[in-house]
Amino acid sequence: MAIYSSNCSKLYIVTLILFMMMISLFGICLGQNSSVGPSFIFGDALFDAGNNNFIPTLSKSDFYPYGIDFGQPTGRFTNGKTVTDIIGEELGYKDFTLPYLSPLLAITDDKLLEPRVLDLGVNYASAGAGILNETGKIFVGRINMDAQIDNFENTRQNIISSIGNDGAMQLLIQKAVFYISIGSSDFIHNYMIPSILSNADLDLVPSLKFVQNMISNFGNQLTRLYNLGARKIVVLNVGPIGCTPSQRDANILSLDNNNCAIFPNRLAQIFNMQLRNLITELTNSLEGSKLVYADVYNVMEDIIENYSKYGFENSDSSCCYVVGRFGGLIPCGPKSKVCLERNKYVFWDPYNPSQAANEIIAKSLLDGDTHIISPNNVRQLFQS
Ligand SMILES: *[C@@H]1O[C@H](CO)[C@@H](O)[C@H](O)[C@H]1NC(C)=O
Ligand SMILES: *[C@@H]1O[C@H](CO)[C@@H](O)[C@H](O)[C@H]1NC(C)=O
Repeated sequence: MAIYSSNCSKLYIVTLILFMMMISLFGICLGQNSSVGPSFIFGDALFDAGNNNFIPTLSKSDFYPYGIDFGQPTGRFTNGKTVTDIIGEELGYKDFTLPYLSPLLAITDDKLLEPRVLDLGVNYASAGAGILNETGKIFVGRINMDAQIDNFENTRQNIISSIGNDGAMQLLIQKAVFYISIGSSDFIHNYMIPSILSNADLDLVPSLKFVQNMISNFGNQLTRLYNLGARKIVVLNVGPIGCTPSQRDANILSLDNNNCAIFPNRLAQIFNMQLRNLITELTNSLEGSKLVYADVYNVMEDIIENYSKYGFENSDSSCCYVVGRFGGLIPCGPKSKVCLERNKYVFWDPYNPSQAANEIIAKSLLDGDTHIISPNNVRQLFQS
């Protein structure tokens, strides 16, 4: 009996030790998850997760069929999840990063800060927004880059009030990752407004001037973010805007071998070349900055050119369509038709990628090699 009971208590102790080891391992896993830093997200329709729901604007997506694969329309400009939604999920975020204007993030008398901001960050992106303040005027309301940084400054102040200056600086400088996708609208909803668009042979000199103006503004905006504590900053370049169904239909007489509009793509390439130089310059001048250049142009071009390799059946037309050879002439709305197999289309609406394309972009940013995203990919940036 005595031996039996002694064995039993040995077994009990061994079990107890195993159990405690499991708990501590589990705790480490939990700790790792919660130590993934927050995401502060800036930009245009590619990233907008609902800010435009809360401003008076013509640039909205809070109606069917937007969100058809999300469960409901949310103000995302796609059928399902955005690129940063998908990255967040892959990193183990417990929820989506909310739009800055969401009532769920509202500050009240007894609440300095919605706690989830410390884990998930905030999304400031607004469809139609540009680097330049005039961009997107045709939509009336939009939150341009300068105003998005103003909004981040408010969040930052609330974080400081809530956890103190040291904690806030540690969070922003060491843990947070900042994403920016901006510039397309400066071309589509500013420089190439339809009256100019008809003249596809537009002289390149004024466009160089326009790009230089964008770059100089963007340099100031990135520096301002740095001065507010941003260090790990992922900058997406401008995609092949000439390949969107909208630009294909608008430039039907000047398309290249891939049926993409030549002039808009050339604008994007000119901008991207200068953007790459800007990122290099700022990396050298802003001490401790970890700026990353993400070649989304390259990723999208590959998806469009080699679409069948990625499982797509259509790379040139809008899944949500009314009229136009590429379904790009009229915005996606409640009366539009929707393609049957949404995950077979690269483009969801006349301007924006489908969730299926967003998933490929997200994976390239998260784990891509240096010819896509350099000097670090997003996963390395979070771990650094
Ligand atoms: C930018 O535009 C907004 C309105 O869209 C305006 O309120 C603001 O004053 C402008 N800022 C500058 C610096 O021009
Ligand atoms: C398409 O795929 C081929 C073969 O893998 C590759 O050589 C080419 O660079 C790809 N196109 C783009 C635009 O990346």
